[in-house]
Amino acid sequence: MEIIFSPTPEEKGVLVLPVCSKKTLPTSSAMYDTQTYGHLSKAMDAANFSGKTDEVLRLYAPAGTNYSQIVLVGIGDTSTLTLQKFEEIGGTIFKTVQKETSIVVDFSDIQKIKNLKSFEWSAHLAAGLELRSFKFLKYKTKNTQHLESKLKNVTFKIAEDSLAQAIFSQLKAVTEGVFLTRTLVSEPPNVIYPESMGDIAKTLSKIGLKVEVYSKKDVERLGMGGLVAVGQGSAKEPKLIVIQWMNGPKDQKPVALVGKGVTFDTGGISIKPAANMEHMKYDMGGSGVVIGLMKTLALRKAKVNVVGVMAMAENMPSGTAYKPADILTTMSGQTIEVQNTDAEGRLILADALWYAQDRFKPQVMVDLATLTGAVGVALGDQHAGLMSNNHELAAKLLKAGDDVNEPMWRLPLTENYDKCMDSDVADMKNISAGAGAGTITAGQFLQRFVNDTPWAHIDIAFMAWDKKGNKPLCEKGATGYGVRLLNKYIKDSFE
Ligand code: BES
Ligand code: MN
Ligand code: ZN
Repeated sequence: MEIIFSPTPEEKGVLVLPVCSKKTLPTSSAMYDTQTYGHLSKAMDAANFSGKTDEVLRLYAPAGTNYSQIVLVGIGDTSTLTLQKFEEIGGTIFKTVQKETSIVVDFSDIQKIKNLKSFEWSAHLAAGLELRSFKFLKYKTKNTQHLESKLKNVTFKIAEDSLAQAIFSQLKAVTEGVFLTRTLVSEPPNVIYPESMGDIAKTLSKIGLKVEVYSKKDVERLGMGGLVAVGQGSAKEPKLIVIQWMNGPKDQKPVALVGKGVTFDTGGISIKPAANMEHMKYDMGGSGVVIGLMKTLALRKAKVNVVGVMAMAENMPSGTAYKPADILTTMSGQTIEVQNTDAEGRLILADALWYAQDRFKPQVMVDLATLTGAVGVALGDQHAGLMSNNHELAAKLLKAGDDVNEPMWRLPLTENYDKCMDSDVADMKNISAGAGAGTITAGQFLQRFVNDTPWAHIDIAFMAWDKKGNKPLCEKGATGYGVRLLNKYIKDSFE
């Protein structure tokens, strides 16, 4: 699919026009109404189309124009439009016309969108369309016709075409990061495992990222008892992947991003029930966000210093697996009594967080993890759970999430919750039986490994994968949630 901006698009294929609320036609849409002898107004009346956001109306073979179809898209009240809403409208356009080969989108005459420049919202409209176009059909060898998109040429009509193109190129870097994340999260666990994830990370060195992959021996030497234990039941050895993008000022301390990368979570010896266990292929979603975001930063040559640390392991039951009652010594020196091998994410993050702050002395550290089922009980699939030891960092992240429509809700961390993780025989245990608040107590556990670094933890267990297929910017499946949020946070706070 090729997306371009042009002041004078060729009149062919399908024309997409906006309609504001109460059937109000912007100037260019009104012009086509006249040109087609009032077809647009008549069709809107006949179909009871009012111009609300998300409404679409398809007119075939309109007279008076070379276009084969005109598609009307409701954009609602223009005074409430935001860049986010333009992206969603772009998503709706893709969904509606994906079976066409060529479309021209003429939103050129929408008036009065306060504080927004037309080349800016046009670029976001295009970015939304592209974000919605991701499909994962790689393993379907038959009958894919009805699933595939046919869209080849997309032209946005706009006078300031080069300004729109410039912003779109920046947004495209973000989209490509999101697509990498979605691809990795969609891939099955026989394809994505710690080593293959490392190999994929290494391919990013060609766009300027510095990538290191540490083997099981290396992480043993570093004293990462948590990461080693979680990986030891699997035939696939655990890895620690470190990606650096140091394109900012020499004296700028980096931002550290840490991702949970459990490429399959069976639960281990505390094995999960069979039903729905296949979902646990996306338990590497946090590391998927980290790698996608690092790609975005490199593609858009961001002037910042950012490091990504991904703790990769497969959690399996076997004769070599770690067990309930095992006591692990982490890189921090702190010991953990294992009470449930299914609470494995926090064990690998304990080492990754400690390593990230110890090696890079970051100014802030953010981890992403599909960490608890409990976050779905608390927030469903509408918000990720945010926990932090720093109000300013939490506020900035919440704002970034709201700005790109990847919302989060902050949950508390307190000393009393922290106590729930104390163990009788070690420094802490890995579950807090009977205490409730499973998302928070997991957050408290992680906090014990961040030292005094300003840190935030984002539990994306119910955001990484969409089961319903009613989100505006992605299909059912991997969402890439988190890439756009952190990109926005980094852009607004450090560039
Ligand atoms: N990977 C799971 C959490 C999860 C659940 C992610 C559902 C996505 C969807 C995690 O490793 C896990 O098993 N957590 C346990 C923790 C419990 C044993 C304290 C959970 O949430 O049940
Ligand atoms: Mn688990
Ligand atoms: Zn897990």
